[in-house]
Order: sequence, then structure tokens, then C-alpha cells
Amino acid sequence: MIETYVIDWLSLIVRWLHLITGIAWIGASLHFIWLDNSLQEPPEWKKEVGIKGDIWSIHGGGIYEFNKYHLAPPSWPATLHWSMWEAYTTWITGSFLIIAVYYLQAQSYLVGPDNWISDPGSAIWASLGYLCLGLLGYELALRTPLKHHSGLFAVAVVIYLTVLSWLSVQLFSDRAAYLHVGALMGTIMAGNVFLGIIPAQRAFVKAVEAGNEPDASLAGFAKLRSTHNNYFTLPVLFCMISNHYPFLYGHQYNWIVLVYMMSVMAYARHFFNLRHRGEVKPAILIQAFVAFLILAVYLGYERYEQVDRESSAHELTDQRALEIVHQHCTVCHAENPTFSGFAAAPGGVLLNSLADINTSAARMRVAIVSNYMPLGNVTGMTTSERSDLLGFLDTQTGLPE
Ligand code: HEC
Repeated sequence: MIETYVIDWLSLIVRWLHLITGIAWIGASLHFIWLDNSLQEPPEWKKEVGIKGDIWSIHGGGIYEFNKYHLAPPSWPATLHWSMWEAYTTWITGSFLIIAVYYLQAQSYLVGPDNWISDPGSAIWASLGYLCLGLLGYELALRTPLKHHSGLFAVAVVIYLTVLSWLSVQLFSDRAAYLHVGALMGTIMAGNVFLGIIPAQRAFVKAVEAGNEPDASLAGFAKLRSTHNNYFTLPVLFCMISNHYPFLYGHQYNWIVLVYMMSVMAYARHFFNLRHRGEVKPAILIQAFVAFLILAVYLGYERYEQVDRESSAHELTDQRALEIVHQHCTVCHAENPTFSGFAAAPGGVLLNSLADINTSAARMRVAIVSNYMPLGNVTGMTTSERSDLLGFLDTQTGLPE
């Protein structure tokens, strides 16, 4: 179908742009955080002209010297570079990507079998509401006295995101749910730039140009927002790539898994923030790594325990296994899928013959165990068909020991 072909191209181009702008945004942000945290005591002559700290680096065959001023430089430069369009274009291309993948193909990707909403049109409204109200809640919190207590605020943000992760899983398909938490955090980050950081910088430049003392409370407020952005970075990137990992988002308590992963990543970020300031605390990285291991071992234990239980299920003949797959998978996983909206075998997974099943057994197992496949259970696969097929897949050589 021509629409499918057009959507595929749109999604490719927009995703590519989103990656490029995102790299520019996160890259610039990481670079400035590093600069700021690594400033060294400047020589006396620099201090006299109001330089707070400096840092030297070599890149691409040239030596660079960065100076940070306490306030204004002695003479204002002809051009002052602002970093904001990286953030805005990342958000804009991200919005187009949500439209191309999740709104134009809402039936396949946005709605799931056990969600509160099963109608694709309503799910799109729910998605818009989720993102707008999620941003509003954060912006309102920033206008309460909580903003004077950065530690308490951080706890409040964690609780807020936990509730929203749970809500997302109720509203959207599992895969879309993770993406929505990431999209919401990305929206909050872009909002921090647009609504807080850039206005504070404008006010700063204006005050300094007019020879006035800049408003310290505005700067403090912008600092709080940029600290949140700093800790959001790694978790957001995780949400964005999570759609490749059904073994995580397909878990029964996927929202807890998400919050756990995001917390560990934000904690790992803390190590780097401290290190730039000269406080090297490897214990943080080790703790974060151990936390990952605990989750990995726990999820693995759960899965393989399940395998043992399932292998007592009916033994399928090759013929019957193929029948189940043809009934539930091949409408999409064929060279020319008959299910509307697909132009080629999705994910490159062809499931026509026993040989195909053998080749893809390991990936099929993950997709079926997590209830990720059949997508949205559109083909109505039953629990017993599921466990029978899993038992059959375990006998396939394609599955690693
Ligand atoms: C309604 C269409 C549809 C049906 C039915 C369907 N799939 Fe899929 N499948 C998809 C789509 C779309 C993707 C790609 C999703 C993505 O990119 O994450 C996919 C991806 C996969 C993957 C690759 C996942 C990965 O990234 O490793 C496997 C394996 C898979 N499906 C197995 C199955 C099995 C087994 C069945 C039948 C029990 C099935 N699918 C039924 C649409 C479908």
C-alpha cells in the first residue's frame, strides 16, 4: 500500500533528523557541563578582568582556551552564541516522529490488548493529554515553595515519574508506554530550556548590558532546571532505545523496571558530575553496576523458572507448531504481509516455514514470553497456544543453550 510506503520514508527521515539534533543538543549540554565543572583557578591577570575560571583543551589539531566570566566581559563580543535551537529542533522532530510512528499507526503501536483505551483515536488524545498535563504538573511544581529545596524537589520528581510510568503502562501499549515516559521527560527538558533557562539568560544579558546587577534568583531558578536536565539525559536516552528491548518493557511489572533502570542511570550520571568537580567516587559506579546486575539476575531467574514450568506443556508436532505460527504470525511476518499497514516482514523476521522458525527461535521466544507478539494480540493468540509454542521453540536448535 502506498500509505505504508510513505510512512516508512517519513519515519526514516524524521528519525534521522531527530538523532542528529538530539546528538547536537545532548553533546553541547554534556560539553558545557564538563566545562563548567572542570574550570581551573585562572592566573592573576585573568582574575583582574573578571574571569572566574579557565580551561584549555586540544581538539582537531588546535588549542582552545575557554574562559568563564563571573558576570560580564570587559567588552561585549560582536556575536554571542546561544544554544537553544538544538533543544527545540530535537523536540520538534521528536513530535513528528511520535506522529509518524504512534499516531499514523496507532492501531499497531499505540494501543495494546490490556489497556484502559482500545480505540486508536482516543489513544491519540490520551497521548496528547498525557504529554501536556505531564509538563503542566512539573511546571506547576516549579512555582511552589518546593523550588527552594532542591533535594526534596528531586524526591518529588522521582515520585512524579513513578506515578506517570504506571499511568503510561495503563494507557498505552507496553512499547509505547516506555516511549511516552521518555517523550514526556524530553518535553520537560525542552520546556526547561524554553521556559526557564533561555529567559533567565536573556534577563542576565539585559541586566549586565544596562550595567545592573543580574537577578540572582532567576539564575538560581535556571540552575535548578538545568540540573534536572542533566540528570534526565541518560534515562531519556534509555527510553528512546527501549523499543528494541521487549524483554524489559514486556515484563509484568514493566513500570517498576523502567523506574528502576532510570534511577540507576541518573545515579550513574551523578558519578560523572562529581568527577568533573574533582571528587572521584568509583563506589557510585560500582553500586550502579551492581544494581543493574541484581535486576538482570532477577529477571533472568524469573524467565528461566518460567521455561521449566512451560516445558511440561503439550509437546507440539512440527505440523501443529507451523499451524499456530501461520495462524498468529504470518499475516505480518511474510514477504508480502496481508495485514494492512505492513509493506515487508516487520523487524526483518520472516515466519513462513519450519526453517524460518528454527532461525528465529530465540527472538520469537523473547517476543512471545513478553506478550509483545503478536503485536497487540490482534490475531487473538491464547495462553495455551503461547505456552505450547514456547515449549516447541525450546526444542529448536536456533535457541542458544
Ligand atoms: C500485526 C502484525 C504482527 C503480528 C500478527 C505478529 N508480529 Fe511480530 N512484529 C511485528 C512488528 C511491527 C514488529 C517490529 C516491531 C519493532 O520494530 O519493535 C515485529 C517484530 C517481531 C520480532 C522481532 C522482535 C525483535 O526486535 O527481536 C519477532 C521475533 C516477532 N515479531 C515474532 C512474532 C511472532 C512469533 C508472532 C506470532 C506469535 C508475531 N510476531 C506476530 C508485527 C507483528
